Amino acid sequence: MPGAYIVGEGNDGTGKSTQIDLLATFIREEYGAEVLVLHEPDGCPISSEIRQIIKNGSLERDATTNLLLITASRHETWFRDAVPVLERGGVVLSARNELSSEIYQGVAEGLGVEHVREVTRMFMDERYMNPDLTVIFTLDDEIRRARIAARGELQNPDTFESRGDEFQKLLNKGYAEIANKRSLPTIDAGQSIDDVQQRFRDLATKALANSGFIKA
Ligand code: TYD
Repeated sequence: MPGAYIVGEGNDGTGKSTQIDLLATFIREEYGAEVLVLHEPDGCPISSEIRQIIKNGSLERDATTNLLLITASRHETWFRDAVPVLERGGVVLSARNELSSEIYQGVAEGLGVEHVREVTRMFMDERYMNPDLTVIFTLDDEIRRARIAARGELQNPDTFESRGDEFQKLLNKGYAEIANKRSLPTIDAGQSIDDVQQRFRDLATKALANSGFIKA
């Protein structure tokens, strides 16, 4: 499949969405490419509905149900919206992908990383499982929490952001370990938005060249 698939990952409050949106504008302007921006577990209408359920903590369920709901959400948006863009030679930029399930459901909720990958593989394709680039945004936990508090999201007790310290520590540790183990590039999101964007663009440009999307 032609096109390119680039993912920005990291804990809540690391600025992934801002950086993905800026990168989308850059790629559109620089290369005149069609760019689709995704924010998992959001997406096409049914994925958006599933996201509302996922974010509603008053609906009791276990980690497996979270994984299955999120997998259903990504399955629909990927095959319905993203694959056609890739087939037309466009670029898909996504805030989060299955790596979030590995960390949130696999590590922090205890299902195990391998189990999460296995389940995901059953319903997704190879292209989805192997992005051209995955960048992990990291941020000092105090700054990260202050940013989330400023967004007012901690007042909503239904989101993963409001889980306790131990949960957040597991997420941060999970991201650090997977970045290390798989040699995924990380960007310190504590720098200015411009500096973070510059580094993200550099990595994306290299990945686009490596995948043959642009000439190096
Ligand atoms: P949302 O507000 O949609 O996204 P974000 O915080 O990335 O801006 O919240 C979605 C929540 O779902 C977020 O706390 C991370 C969590 N999540 C998982 O637990 N597993 C997953 O696979 C994904 C994609 C998200």
